[in-house]
Amino acid sequence: MRKNHAIRKPKGKLGVLIVGLNGAVATTFLAGVMAVRRGIARPIGSLTQMGAIRLGKRTEHRSPLIRKFIELAKLDDLVFGGWDIRDENCYESAVHAGVLSSDHLGHVKKELLSLRPMKAVFEQFYVKRLKGSHVKKGATKLELMEQLREDIRAFKKTNGVDRCVLVWCGSTEVFISPNGVHKTLKKFTEGMKKNHADIAPSMLYAYAALMEGVPFANGAPNLTVDTPALAQLAREKGVPISGKDFKTGQTLLKTVIAPMLKARLIGLNGWFSSNILGNRDGEVLDDPDSFKTKEESKLSVLEGILQPGLYPDLYKDYYHKVRINYYPPRGDNKESWDNIDIFGWMGYPMQVKINFLCRDSILAAPIVLDLILFMDLAQRAGMRGIQEWLSFYFKSPMFAPGLYPEHDLFIQLMKLKNTLRYLKGEELITHLGLEYYD
Ligand SMILES: NC(=O)c1ccc[n+]([C@@H]2O[C@H](COP(=O)([O-])OP(=O)(O)OC[C@H]3O[C@@H](n4cnc5c(N)ncnc54)[C@H](O)[C@@H]3O)[C@@H](O)[C@H]2O)c1
Repeated sequence: MRKNHAIRKPKGKLGVLIVGLNGAVATTFLAGVMAVRRGIARPIGSLTQMGAIRLGKRTEHRSPLIRKFIELAKLDDLVFGGWDIRDENCYESAVHAGVLSSDHLGHVKKELLSLRPMKAVFEQFYVKRLKGSHVKKGATKLELMEQLREDIRAFKKTNGVDRCVLVWCGSTEVFISPNGVHKTLKKFTEGMKKNHADIAPSMLYAYAALMEGVPFANGAPNLTVDTPALAQLAREKGVPISGKDFKTGQTLLKTVIAPMLKARLIGLNGWFSSNILGNRDGEVLDDPDSFKTKEESKLSVLEGILQPGLYPDLYKDYYHKVRINYYPPRGDNKESWDNIDIFGWMGYPMQVKINFLCRDSILAAPIVLDLILFMDLAQRAGMRGIQEWLSFYFKSPMFAPGLYPEHDLFIQLMKLKNTLRYLKGEELITHLGLEYYD
């Protein structure tokens, strides 16, 4: 068992750097934290702010709040910055996103007005539906990456912070498969010098962050830091990384329903998932190449949970389809439908229908907050490379070579909480419980 003294204390301010600072998710997160700090809103959905953790035996009745149990940065200590391709202040962008009411935004208007993005690294090929006007220039990708490093150093200096976390809340880039240039750090670095086409802007942000010792979390399904080259860099620099793709709406439900079907050995014939969504993310995902990145991420969860290889009679041939349709009238208020064709005892068919009327950015904002605080914790606890214990927050969790990802939400939560117990030298909870009956 590990001793808790290995965690460095969260002294001073924590810099929060966001790629996509003017997006719907980022501005909803920012306005929410600012409102919570002023005591005019509650951080609902955030495990770090509202969650408790059981310690020891059930007879001990010890369940402190997580933020009292383990040393996390305080909301008051967060300072914000980031990049976007649009030169707007965050208030304008939050109004444009249309997620929060004018009443809520009014309370934090001054703070949001003062936040403007730094110039972004952007390549049209990677996000076809957006035009970038606030963009860096450089002869090579290496040069652009160096400019990002310079931004991080300047941000730290101006704000007097020595710890930062960087979160990708930028648009979903087009699908690329990992290939030679992503295999080793040497090849990747050469690729940046030669402007290799398969090095996406998001990878340059990740590389810059790691070189500056800044943990990197990826909220979109892009490959980004999920390559052998950047995982190697993270390990060498002793920096935590995590991703990919915030697990917020339909996939969150999927990773609860599918484990239930498997737990009861109920068979699956088909799962049709459809969405309508009208925000800018929906517009970007209307491009088939960006949609392919999202589709791969959304499709991957069922196979991982149902294990057709282990249960061929139940899950060998199910049909799984995911559709996302851009429908402007709904804005950020996404609606999803799931039709699930299942079969039970002796093969008799049944159906489950789910209609989730959610708010995309309202579900994503607490995840951004938790990831920032937990990634900072990981850094202070000396955890480097892939942080699989944060799978709880992702649709396509990153995992070590030779493993398979864990998608079941409640196994993910147990893994997360056991990691916190482990870090603090507390007994892990296995839920065996036989000792109560001896
Ligand atoms: N529930 C959710 O909202 C949810 C869930 C999972 C994943 N995501 C992902 O999170 C991301 C953000 O979602 P959103 O709704 O805020 O989208 P958004 O379109 O409102 O925001 C994305 C922002 O990124 C900016 N951007 C694009 N490329 C950039 C670059 N290279 N550098 C800097 N800025 C860049 C855009 O200008 C925009 O302001 C998307 O990739 C989305 O797929 C969101």
